[in-house]
Parts: sequence; C-alpha cells; structure tokens
Amino acid sequence: MTISYISAAEAAAMINHGDVLGVGGFGPAGSPKCITPEIAKRARGEHEAGRPFRVDLITGASIGASCDGELAAADAIDRRLPFTVNPEIRKAFNEGRVRYSDLNLSDNATFLRQGITGPPTWGIMEACHIEQVGNTIRIYPTAGIGIAPTICRLATQGIFIELNEWHSTNLIGLHDIYEIENPWSRTTVGITHPLKRIGKPYIEVEAHRVKGVVRCNLPDESRSMTPGNSITDAIGQHMADFLVYNMNHGFISRDRLILQSGVGSGANAVLGALGECEDVPRFSIYTEVLQEEPLRLIKNGRVKAASTGALTIGPEPLRELCNDISHYSDCLLVRPSEISNCPEIIARLGICSMNTAIEVDVYGHVNSTKIGGTRMMNGVGGSADFTCNAMLASFTCSSTTKDGKISSIVPFCSHVDHTEHYVDAVITEYGVADLRGKCSMEKAAALIEIAHPDYRPLLRDYLCLAERYGGHTHHVLPAAFAMHDTYRRKGDMRLTDWSEYIRE
Ligand code: COA
Repeated sequence: MTISYISAAEAAAMINHGDVLGVGGFGPAGSPKCITPEIAKRARGEHEAGRPFRVDLITGASIGASCDGELAAADAIDRRLPFTVNPEIRKAFNEGRVRYSDLNLSDNATFLRQGITGPPTWGIMEACHIEQVGNTIRIYPTAGIGIAPTICRLATQGIFIELNEWHSTNLIGLHDIYEIENPWSRTTVGITHPLKRIGKPYIEVEAHRVKGVVRCNLPDESRSMTPGNSITDAIGQHMADFLVYNMNHGFISRDRLILQSGVGSGANAVLGALGECEDVPRFSIYTEVLQEEPLRLIKNGRVKAASTGALTIGPEPLRELCNDISHYSDCLLVRPSEISNCPEIIARLGICSMNTAIEVDVYGHVNSTKIGGTRMMNGVGGSADFTCNAMLASFTCSSTTKDGKISSIVPFCSHVDHTEHYVDAVITEYGVADLRGKCSMEKAAALIEIAHPDYRPLLRDYLCLAERYGGHTHHVLPAAFAMHDTYRRKGDMRLTDWSEYIRE
C-alpha cells in the first residue's frame, strides 16, 4: 500500500458534523496546523448554508492557535478537552458556547481507552518524517506528542498526517513513545531516571489506517513568554533557598534533585531565576512542558537531564535546538503526556513540583483555574498530577496582580483545584510559607506573612473576626468572599470593609 498525499482541504472534506477529532501534540508544540483551518473554513460554509457543523476536539493538552483558535472562531467546536491556553476558545468557554471538560492530563489517554471520552473518529498528527515498513507507517513526531499514540490506535475512521517540512528531522530520536495499559492489566512503567527510555522513537500505525498525508511547511505557534522581573527573580531565589533548606535537612536529595515546573510566563521566569542560584546543585527535570528558560539551563549545563511532554519554545529556539542537536540528544527526551504526567513515575522519582497559583487561601487551598471562581483561565492541566504525587509540592505566585488591586492570598479560594493536603509550600516575592506539619491556624499565620504588606492587616482582621466563630478552621462564611466581592464592586480588594459583610 502506498502513502497517499492529499491536500488539507481534501482531508477536511472527509470530516463530518458530530465527529470526534483526536489531535496530536502537546501545547502548540507538535500540533497540526493546516487541516484544522480548512475544517474551520468548511464549518463556516456549512453554517452559511444553514447546516450544523461542530466537532468534539480532544488533544493531549493545549494546542496551537490554528486548531483551537480557528475552530473556536468558526464556532466549529461542540465539546473540548482536556486543556487549552487559547484566548479565543477561552472566550467561548466563558460564554457557554463550547462545553469544556477540564481534566487531569494523566487521565486523558486512559479515558479515551476506556471509551469514556472516545473513541475519536479521526486522528490528526504532525510528523517531521514518516516511513513505511511493510504494512505499517512509522510517524516521527515533532516538538510534542500528547496522546498521539492512543489516538492513532483508536481513531475509528483513520488518521491524517501533516508532514511538516518546517521541522528538522534532527528531532528523530528525541522521542520515547510508550502507551500505558488499561488499569486492570497495567504493568510497571519502568522509568527510574528522567532519561530512562522505555519505548520507541516513533508511533507505529497500520498503513491502511492512514487516510492521507498532507505536506506543509509551517512553524510552531508557541507564544513568547513575558520576561522575568524583580518579582519572579525574588520568587526564584526563595524557591532556591527553600530547596537548599530541604536538602540540608535531608528532606530531599541533593544528588538526585528532580524538578517539575508548570506552564506560563511566571513558571518559566521562576525556573530561570532558580537555575541561576549557585547554591542549588545541578539538577534534572521531569516535566510536561519545557519552556525557554529550562532550555537555556540545559545549554549552560545547569540542567543535567530533562524529560518533557513538549518543547514549548518559540520557532527560533526550536530551530537552534535542532541545529545544535548533539548538545541535547544525550540529555533530553520527549514523551507522551500520560508518561510525562504519570503519577507512578512522579512518585517514584521523588519530584519537587513547582506550579503557579491564581490564588491561595489562608489555609493553603489553591485555585489554578478559575478567575473569580467563575471564569476559566486555562485548566488544571498537569498541575494536580504533579502536586498530588510530588515529594515536595510547591506553588508560586506574585503576591498581587492587576496593579496591586487583587491579592493572591485570600480568606477563601473562589475555586479549589488543589486542597491543603497536597500543598506543601507557597512562595511569593515575600518569602516561603512552608505548610508541612502545620495546623490550619499556623498555615494561616505563615501565608499572611508572605501576602503583600497592603493586604496583611486586612487578612489578619478577617482572622480576628473569624476567631469569634471558633472551630478548627476559623471562617466567617458571609465574609469569606468579601475581598472578591469588593473587587467586583469597587475595583480594588484593598477597599474591603468587613463590617459590610458581618451582620451580627
Ligand atoms: N484574580 C484575577 N486575575 C488574575 C489572578 C487573580 N487572582 N491571578 C492572575 N490573574 C490574571 C493576571 O492578571 C493575568 O491577566 P492578563 O492576562 O489580563 O494580564 C492572567 O491572569 C495570567 O496571569 P499570569 O500571572 O500572567 O499567568 P502565567 O502565564 O504565569 O500563568 C496560570 C499562570 C496559573 C494561569 C498558569 O500557570 C496555569 O494555567 N496553570 C494551570 C495549569 C498548570 O499549572 N499546568 C502545569 C502543570 S505541569
């Protein structure tokens, strides 16, 4: 059977209203870029003709703008999971136009295999190279994999491959493709070191399932990160000091320090600043996204080894990486998301996780996903996969946002993704609140110490009022969201007047 080369429009023409699209890649890295804009065009045409056209979209994590952005703008998505960072689709979620299922990334492939969210009708993959070997086609992925192996195996109608010539074939060999078995027959996932290989460097599919290969030449769509600043530098330094404190006390290993870092500009800058601290020994990374700062740390030798779900870096750094591949090929692996986020491996490796919080409450619960408790930001992604299973689970955030009008430390989180039981430490530019072994009221005291000075008296006043109501964890429930409500009404949490919320 020979490989059939088709156009993106021809691929899009085979997709129907109600189909479930499984798309490979992880973040903008490795995400297909030319078929989905054609599907969006098709959806517009169908809508103009008065016919419905919407698909479900399942990916490994977030995806590039030419997928989420184009399809959401064309009102072509009915249901979306498990994660996204795209502003266009975020708007659609928050206006109720797309049904969004915010899922732990480690569950995503399992849910597909179990049939809970699948099977997908079609798979769309990006490859830097393909080769036919007998009755199979080997797909060599690009900068990210996501749940591509599972999608390729399960897609009921078949698979389209975008053979993207923009990507260098130097990427071949960086991938370690392995699919976990179903829970009831699952064997050990034998990764004992970030660079331990357990799979193959390609995804293998039966040739007859590949319904067409589309050639293209398009760069990755990674967003550029906001550069670090004095706040992220301070957080990075506090994180470094905290890691050293834990090493000195034997709580974590000095020789086998393995870090995970979350998504976003904050996480990127904090890891960059931490990496520069000489007190922290050279370390390894086991994570779901490798952003630009960790790549720089690999290059300058601060990072010994890195395993990631994706190279979420801009087109230029990705080009540089490929041109200088010999520098990275011995110390970098790219894995499917169910392996990069696998709870079993995270626990075994004794990872120190560092994710970013939107807000943290005085008792250590963390909101990572919903602004003001109602508006979806991105999703939980892999933050819970790492937080629940890490040896040392930390969250970082700037103490305020929106020019100081919002405090990141609040009496009660407006939404909770990570409960106090999993959150070991919270770090702002004012220091570290080490929550381990503390009772609720001790946690509150530690967290108020790292709140912005403008908010410390306000938070202490809340606790004084709450004390009257007693209990193990003090709260005045009618006032628990007063700071959020004051921001909504007056545009600044600092204007909170507790007496407006307490009637007795
Ligand atoms: N109330 C209102 N708005 C808030 C807020 C709060 N408490 N905290 C942050 N924001 C706003 C910021 O002001 C900013 O708004 P803008 O876009 O208008 O400037 C926006 O949210 C993003 O904040 P920023 O600090 O720039 O975010 P970031 O790029 O560092 O990302 C998260 C932070 C939490 C959104 C991001 O890390 C995330 O999505 N995390 C969940 C998933 C995850 O952790 N995955 C990794 C697991 S491996």
